[in-house]
Amino acid sequence: MSATTAIAATSAATIAAAASAESPQTDHPLPAMRAVTQHRYGDADVLNVEEIDRPSIADEEVLIEVAAAGLDRGVLHLMTGTPYLIRLMGFGVRKPKNPVLGMDVSGRVVEVGSAVTDFQVGDEVMGIAKGSFAQFASASAAKLVHKPEGVSFDSAAASTISGITALQALTTQGNIAEGDRVLVIGASGGVGTFAVQIANSLGATVTGVASEAKREFVQSLGASDVIDYKTTDLGELDREFDLIIDIGGRNPIRKLRTILAPSGRLVIVGGEGGGKITGGIGRQLGAAMLSLFVKQRLGFFVSSESREYIQPLADLVASGAVAPAISDHVTLDQAIEGIRALEGGQVSGKIVIDVRSSR
Ligand SMILES: NC(=O)c1ccc[n+]([C@@H]2O[C@H](COP(=O)([O-])OP(=O)(O)OC[C@H]3O[C@@H](n4cnc5c(N)ncnc54)[C@H](OP(=O)(O)O)[C@@H]3O)[C@@H](O)[C@H]2O)c1
Repeated sequence: MSATTAIAATSAATIAAAASAESPQTDHPLPAMRAVTQHRYGDADVLNVEEIDRPSIADEEVLIEVAAAGLDRGVLHLMTGTPYLIRLMGFGVRKPKNPVLGMDVSGRVVEVGSAVTDFQVGDEVMGIAKGSFAQFASASAAKLVHKPEGVSFDSAAASTISGITALQALTTQGNIAEGDRVLVIGASGGVGTFAVQIANSLGATVTGVASEAKREFVQSLGASDVIDYKTTDLGELDREFDLIIDIGGRNPIRKLRTILAPSGRLVIVGGEGGGKITGGIGRQLGAAMLSLFVKQRLGFFVSSESREYIQPLADLVASGAVAPAISDHVTLDQAIEGIRALEGGQVSGKIVIDVRSSR
C-alpha cells in the first residue's frame, strides 16, 4: 500500500470514527491520540510523547487528522515560555494552557464546527493549528486554506508560519519592488529561506547573511551573494540595500542604517538573545520611533496569521516559485530530537514532523 493510499484508508476510518464519536460536550472520554506534550515551561527536557485525549472543537474550528507538522522557532518560544511577554498573550502564565506543541499543520479535515462553511470533512488543508505535533489537531477555519493539489503534505506543513512572515515582511511591510537590492539577515533559517526565494521571485537581487557552513545552501535558494556573519561586520560593507529584512543577529539599528539606501526600508522580523522578559522589543520600538524623524523607513511587525496571507503563500508554493527548504523529516517520536537540533542552530530551513509515519 502506498503512503497516500494508507493515509486515505486511515482517514476514511477516522472520519467514520469521528462521525460516530461522542460529542465533545458530553462527559464521555474522547478517543485517544499520540502527541508531543509539555506540562511546564522549560527546555526540551520538559517534553514527552504520550497518549492524550483528542481535542474538541469550537463552532468556528475544524478537527484535522494531521499528516505533517512544521517546526519553527516560535515553537521554542512557546516551549520555554520566553520571552515572558508571550505568557501574558494568552499562552499561560505559570504553565502552557495547551499542553500540545506545534502550529504549522497539513492534513485532512475529520470534523467541522457548526459555524464553519468553507471546509468539509475530507478536505485537505494547510495552515496554523493549536497543537499540531499530534495525530489530531483543532484549528480555527480562519487560519486554514485548502492545500493546493500538487503540493505535498510535507511542503504544506513546512510553509505557513515562516512563509507568511517572509511574505508580509517583503510586501506589506517592506514594499518590495522589482530590481530592489534586498539584504536578508538570517537567510538560512525558517523565515529567511522563504524570504530569499520570495524576494527572488519578485525580481529583487538578494544578498543573504548566514553562517559560512550554509553559504552554498543559501546560494541554492537564489541569493546572488552570501555574507558570513561570523567574519564580516555588516557595518563595514561597502554597498547599500533598498530593503533589509532583519531576522537574526540583532545588529544595532545605527549599523544597519549605514548600509541602507537614503530612502531604504528596514523591516525587523526577529532575532534571538534579546532577554528573557521582553525579548529585546526595545530595539524594535526604538527603530519605529527613529523612523518618525529620518527619511529611511524603519519598523517591525508581528505577522498576521490570517488566510489573506496563507492563500497567496500556498499559491506561490503551488506555482513552484517557492519550494520550502526541508532539511529533515522526523517522526512524532523523533520530534524532540528535531527540537534539540533547532535549539542548537543545526537546522537549514525547516524540519518536518511526518505524523503519518507515527500511526
Ligand atoms: N515578527 C514575526 O511575526 C515573526 C514570525 C516568525 C518568526 N519570528 C522571529 O524571527 C526570528 C527567526 O525565526 P526563524 O524561524 O527564521 O529562526 P531560525 O530558523 O532559527 O533562523 C535563524 C537565522 O538567523 C541566523 N543567525 C543566527 N545568528 C546570527 C547572527 N549573529 N547574525 C546574523 N544571522 C544570524 C541563522 O543563521 P545560521 O543558521 O546560518 O547560523 C538563521 O539563518 C526568531 O527570533 C523568531 O522568533 C518573528
